[in-house]
Amino acid sequence: MLQAKGLTKRFAGLVSVDHVDFSLARNEILGLIGPNGAGKTTLVNMISGTLRPSEGELAFKGERIDTLPSYRRAHLGIARTFQVMKPFPGLSTLDNVAVGAMFGTGGGEKSRAKAREKAREWLEFTGLGNRLEASADSLGGPDRKRLEFAKALAMEPELLLLDEVMAGLTAVEVDQVVELIKKIRDQGVTILVIEHVIKAIRSLSDRVLVLHHGEAIAEGDPATVLENPQVVEAYLGKRRA
Ligand SMILES: Nc1ncnc2c1ncn2[C@@H]1O[C@H](COP(=O)(O)OP(=O)(O)OP(=O)(O)O)[C@@H](O)[C@H]1O
Ligand SMILES: [Mg+2]
Repeated sequence: MLQAKGLTKRFAGLVSVDHVDFSLARNEILGLIGPNGAGKTTLVNMISGTLRPSEGELAFKGERIDTLPSYRRAHLGIARTFQVMKPFPGLSTLDNVAVGAMFGTGGGEKSRAKAREKAREWLEFTGLGNRLEASADSLGGPDRKRLEFAKALAMEPELLLLDEVMAGLTAVEVDQVVELIKKIRDQGVTILVIEHVIKAIRSLSDRVLVLHHGEAIAEGDPATVLENPQVVEAYLGKRRA
């Protein structure tokens, strides 16, 4: 589904993502973990098209995408959530998601009425069916996360990139989001999930990739990677302390 070769991003001479190779199989869930500043969001930005790689190649379903603008990648079937959420503040919850529906895979839904119909379905799916007319900026933390989700899902992606959608949620809410992500995967979507909540990574991921100072330091099945001494040293040890 996705193949990255030597993916690199430099900002003013500092390397944020350093020659990372990885791939994602169709319908797989890949967990992406690592300390703050490791380069996780930068990697997702390069996949979604928010940032251009400084070096390296990216292919989606066999087609080079690394020079395409974001909207073209969205049309091809790539959608993402933002770590810092960006709802359109003047719009209702429903219309925020309808915008997603209008810019998604295959060019999106052209009719506004149909886009709103789809938006309603996705908001019900993510548990926001009772807040359709609420102003998006009036939503609390967990509901904002659900809105981000619904917006990305309304694009009907084949590849969904989730950047810390569980930050600030309670344990019960984390469990709900884990179930939601599993439901999305069951619909055939391929998912890359960045998360600091290790319990969620363990329960969701088919495979885990660890970044540290921009470099991929470990990759494999969750049990093995999360026991890897280098990973514990670089990341997990500090989180437990
Ligand atoms: N637009 C930018 N300009 C300059 N430096 C940047 C930019 N974006 C990210 N960086 C730097 O790149 C490095 C990686 O940042 P990134 O946001 O990808 O980390 P992260 O792994 O997502 O961290 P976190 O877990 O805190 O979200 C950091 O040193 C950061 O300061
Ligand atoms: Mg980040």
